Amino acid sequence: MELIGKQHYVLPEGKIYLNWAASCPALADTSAFFEYRKMKSLNREKNAYYDFLDDEVRSLVGRLFQCESSRVFIAANATSALLDVLDRWLLRHPNSTIIKTRQSYPSLVLAGQAVQTHWVHATDAGYLEAIAACSGTGIVLIEGCDYLSGRRYDINAIQAAAASKGLSVILDASQWPAPNLHLQENMAIIFAGHKWAGGPNGIAIGMIPESFPLDGRSGTESLNRGWRLPLDTFSFKPTAARLDAGGGGNPYLNLALLHQSLSLLASVGRAAVENHVVELATSLRSKLSHLNVQLLPANRASMVCFQMPFADFGSAAEDHGLILTSGLGRVRLSPAPFSSEKDVDDAVAIIERMIS
Ligand SMILES: Cc1ncc(COP(=O)(O)O)c(C=O)c1O
Repeated sequence: MELIGKQHYVLPEGKIYLNWAASCPALADTSAFFEYRKMKSLNREKNAYYDFLDDEVRSLVGRLFQCESSRVFIAANATSALLDVLDRWLLRHPNSTIIKTRQSYPSLVLAGQAVQTHWVHATDAGYLEAIAACSGTGIVLIEGCDYLSGRRYDINAIQAAAASKGLSVILDASQWPAPNLHLQENMAIIFAGHKWAGGPNGIAIGMIPESFPLDGRSGTESLNRGWRLPLDTFSFKPTAARLDAGGGGNPYLNLALLHQSLSLLASVGRAAVENHVVELATSLRSKLSHLNVQLLPANRASMVCFQMPFADFGSAAEDHGLILTSGLGRVRLSPAPFSSEKDVDDAVAIIERMIS
C-alpha cells in the first residue's frame, strides 16, 4: 500500500518512479500555484499572503524538527545555504579543520579560504575516528545518508561525539527526512526543497540553533537581506531569518509549493514516512539479493544501491519503464511515500529482465 496515494503526484505515465532521493515529482493539486498567482495580482493582500506563507513554513518546519520557528531560515537553494553557514562559521573560526568525505553533497561545498580538511571514509566509524583525532576547532560536514551507497549515518552518535569535543556539525538532510533528528546546540540542519520535502527546485530550508557560532560577513552584511525587510528598525535580524534568501527575487512561488508539500507530509508525519520507505527499501533489497547484482553495503537504508551492471543502465531502465538514478559506477533506487510493494516487484522484474 502507498502511504500517500499516487493520485497526489504528477508521475511519469506508465513508469515506476523509484527516484525520490533525487527529486520528488510535482503535486497534482495545482491550487497553491493559482493561489499564489491570484495573490500576486492583488496589491494589498499580497504582503499578508507572503507573511502567512513565511510564518506557516517556519512553523511547519519547527513542528517537524521540534525547534523554535525563529531558528528556521529560507534559502534560495541548499547549496547556497550550506555555503553561507560554512562561510560564516569559518569567519568566526579561521584556523579550523573541516571533517568531511571525498564523496557526496556537503563535501562539494568549500569556503574560498585555506582550511585544513580531514577527509574521512563515508562510514560512521570514519567520522567518529576523525572527530576523536581532532584537536582544536573543527566542523563536521555530513549528509543524512551516503549519496553513493545509500547507507545511513548514525547522525545522533556523530553529533554527540562532535559535541563532546566542542566541534560543530552541518547536516545536509536533503535526501532523508531523518525522523529521529532534532536541532542540537552544535548542529545546523539544511535540506533542499525538491527531494523528500516534495517541493520544487530552487528553495531550501535551514535551521540554526541559537548557540551556533556564526559571524556576519563583516562589512558586507545586508540589513535588507531576507523575506521580510526590517524597514522599521534598520538593525540586523536577531533570528535565523538573517540567513534568508535576499533581494526582490525571493522564490515566493516555490515557497507556496513547498508549503503545500510539507503540509501533506506533516499530515502523515516524518516517522510514518520513514517506516514506509525503509520497509519498501528493505523488501527491495532482499528481492534484489536473489538476482545477479552486487549490492552495496547498507544499514537502516531508505535507498538501495548496486554496482552498475553496464554503461547507460539508467537510460535503459527508463526505456523499460523504471526511473532511478545511475552514475558514478552505481545504480540507486529510492522508494517514496507514494511507492507500493507492487512497484518494488515490478522494478525487480524489470531489473531481472535487463540483466539476463
Ligand atoms: C544531498 C544533496 N544536497 C543538496 C543538493 C543540492 O540542492 P540545491 O539544488 O537546493 O542546491 C543535492 C542535489 O540536488 C543533494 O543531492
